[in-house]
Amino acid sequence: MAREDSDQSGPRHVAIIMDGNGRWAQMRRRPRLFGHQAGARRVREIVEACPDFGVKYLTIFAFSTENWKRTQTEVAGLMSLFRRYIHKEMQAFKAENVQVRFIGDRVRLDAKLRALMDEAEEITADCTGTNLTIALNYGGRDEVARATKRLAQDVKAGRLDPEDVDEETLPKYLDTCVLPDPDLVIRTSGEARVSNFLLWQSAYAEYEFIDTLWPDFTREEFGRLVGSYGKRDRRFGAVKA
Ligand code: IPE
Ligand code: IPE
Ligand code: MG
Repeated sequence: MAREDSDQSGPRHVAIIMDGNGRWAQMRRRPRLFGHQAGARRVREIVEACPDFGVKYLTIFAFSTENWKRTQTEVAGLMSLFRRYIHKEMQAFKAENVQVRFIGDRVRLDAKLRALMDEAEEITADCTGTNLTIALNYGGRDEVARATKRLAQDVKAGRLDPEDVDEETLPKYLDTCVLPDPDLVIRTSGEARVSNFLLWQSAYAEYEFIDTLWPDFTREEFGRLVGSYGKRDRRFGAVKA
């Protein structure tokens, strides 16, 4: 999908693993939630920078399917932060022509949060600027498992022939079905791992692992990473003539 479309020199779709909020707070001897609040405040600046850097799609990892393993205090604090954040920001995103979408399994999220997610998607549905996708209770393996379940249901119901299942069919069942694949995946906080983010979609993405903790990530650093992407030679397995 994204491969043919990404012949512009910069990345069309950037995905970010926003990591390091806890350590940022710890360095200041504050509770982890203080770091998450500071992290949430960084999002707007990066979203607003996208049009200036030619980034049409921005996908951010806010909460993973594994993050439920954290303390009840942290999980409840994060859920409350997501509710407040979406409530507060959705009008601003609409005003800035940002189309908001969520990926991940909503079933485990509380009804109030789910209603806010639906509302944010609805009121920004006609926006034509940056496509912001927020991964909330998202896990790449969980997404593939859910997709496979729906695909199997289609086979069982006679809507899909198993012979037709290929690399084009399967992604239509993923949460990201309307999005191009990410060109560039950035992870902050010095960890060089993927932590279950966009496993299928990032097969040929370029990666940047940077030491900055997410609450310190700025528009300038974002611009620098987007700029250095243009110098990379993406070969997709082929040999350049
Ligand atoms: C990322 O920051 C935010 C979430 C995973 C919700 P962390 O909370 O993982 O911060 P560190 O990695 O502990 O510093
Ligand atoms: C990945 O960060 C998830 C998010 C940024 C939402 P984690 O902090 O949960 O990942 P690990 O535990 O270091 O792999
Ligand atoms: Mg972390």
